[in-house]
Amino acid sequence: MNSTMRDRLIAAAKNAAGNAYAPYSKYRVGAAVLAENGEIYSGCNVENSSYGLTICAERVALFGARCAGATKWIALAIYAPQPPVPLPCGACRQVMAEGGNAPLVIVVGHDDTIREFAFKEILPHSFDMTM
Ligand code: THU
Repeated sequence: MNSTMRDRLIAAAKNAAGNAYAPYSKYRVGAAVLAENGEIYSGCNVENSSYGLTICAERVALFGARCAGATKWIALAIYAPQPPVPLPCGACRQVMAEGGNAPLVIVVGHDDTIREFAFKEILPHSFDMTM
């Protein structure tokens, strides 16, 4: 991925964070997936009065990509405009385990610190029935 695309992906994650619905935790998150087809799909966290129904930004973005017909993704940027940095939860990591092509996870903090991880680094030995 070139630096222009990386900047676009981070900008899309930041933009999506503006649509987060997080009245309970007050923790807003945006995510953006770069698919193999070159398109970017974004998502934000959406909370609910029935707390357990909340869905993270990462899964909204990944499911949106799939629903739009993008079958493979190569990078996912996550941004939170407030601390702490949005390291993805275990459920999202398990969802990321499918549909990726040697994917990269880019985590951007409120202070614009950027950390990058190969997906395998953050979820080694994942459960995957597609293999
Ligand atoms: N959340 C995300 O959307 N992504 C993360 O990486 C961490 C947590 C959301 C879920 C919930 O709406 C709020 O942040 C607090 O956990």
